Amino acid sequence: MLRSVVRGVGAALPRRIMRNTDFEGIMETSDEWIAQRTGIRQRHIADDTETTASLGEAACRAALANAGLVPGDIDLVLLATSTPNNTFPATAVEIQERLGIRHGFAFDMQAVCSGFVYAVTTADLYLRGGQARRALVIGAETFSRILDWEDRSTCVLFGDGAGAIVLEAAEGQGTISDRGVLAASLRSDGSHKDKLYVDGGPSTTQTVGHLRMQGREVFKHAVGMITDVVEATFAQAQITAADLDWFVPHQANKRIIDASAKKLGIADEKVVITVDLHGNTSAASVPLALSVAVADGRIKQGDLVLLEAMGGGFTWGAVLIRW
Ligand code: UT7
Repeated sequence: MLRSVVRGVGAALPRRIMRNTDFEGIMETSDEWIAQRTGIRQRHIADDTETTASLGEAACRAALANAGLVPGDIDLVLLATSTPNNTFPATAVEIQERLGIRHGFAFDMQAVCSGFVYAVTTADLYLRGGQARRALVIGAETFSRILDWEDRSTCVLFGDGAGAIVLEAAEGQGTISDRGVLAASLRSDGSHKDKLYVDGGPSTTQTVGHLRMQGREVFKHAVGMITDVVEATFAQAQITAADLDWFVPHQANKRIIDASAKKLGIADEKVVITVDLHGNTSAASVPLALSVAVADGRIKQGDLVLLEAMGGGFTWGAVLIRW
């Protein structure tokens, strides 16, 4: 059977780093409050020349170089983002154009922080269904552009960045030993909309709007939703937490990550944490964390890697990949 195998991974971050202490002069907050409540120490913030498309393009070029491929090898560009360059056309098409790809197809996917997990799952279906042979799956965001910089309860939490992987259709045996995407579970429930949303949009206010979040409410639901969807993915693949080599969760809050790993019985040393470096970069957070753990030699070919995310909607999901 066909499997969607990871051939490469790459990332891109804005040049400017904003540390927790940089907020101290402009609002009532402290490095101590932010670090203790979230684990965040710094985040990257895009300047006027850096956009979701430019960061996404740079992440794609890095992933292609890592895979030993060129843009012409790609026939699907799938971008997970909630901060596109324009309302339309899709920013994925702009990235496709920036890469000089004139064949195949490209589109955006909007599942907020769960976007990359949704996009990997979607690309896997296109590759296994024979609609494409090689996909760039990207998570790229410029959340700094939709933050209310006067709301200390949200603006300290988010950052900008992009990560990408190359997936390629390849024959497998149909067993858990195969490389590639092995199992996935996706969920959503719109009844939670008012807990995390943006208060604007083309069809309502004709503005971009600002992110609004009831942080404590999101926190309350996060661990249960994450552990449920991860357990569903384990059941699908007939594995347990002990079989995992790496757990690469959405990087929103270290307390949520620690509590989820503990409830799932995943050992601390298998958990990849980058929230301290990047803050919450929404759809970019999982591929950014992957790129760090691949670059530093932790994630190696053959490792069993579990990705999960939860965010606005609510949306949540998990994907199991043998690297
Ligand atoms: O990616 C999508 C998923 N999003 C998330 O996962 C976010 C989930 N939520 C969280 O991470 C946490 O709820 C937060 C980090 C947002 C907040 O942590 P918390 O422990 O839930 O704090 P809290 O909301 O209970 O607020 C505690 C206090 C409040 O003051 P009072 O009402 O107790 O006097 C806030 O006003 O902290 C205050 N506060 C701040 N203080 C200093 C809120 N923001 C700040 C700040 N600096 N930046």
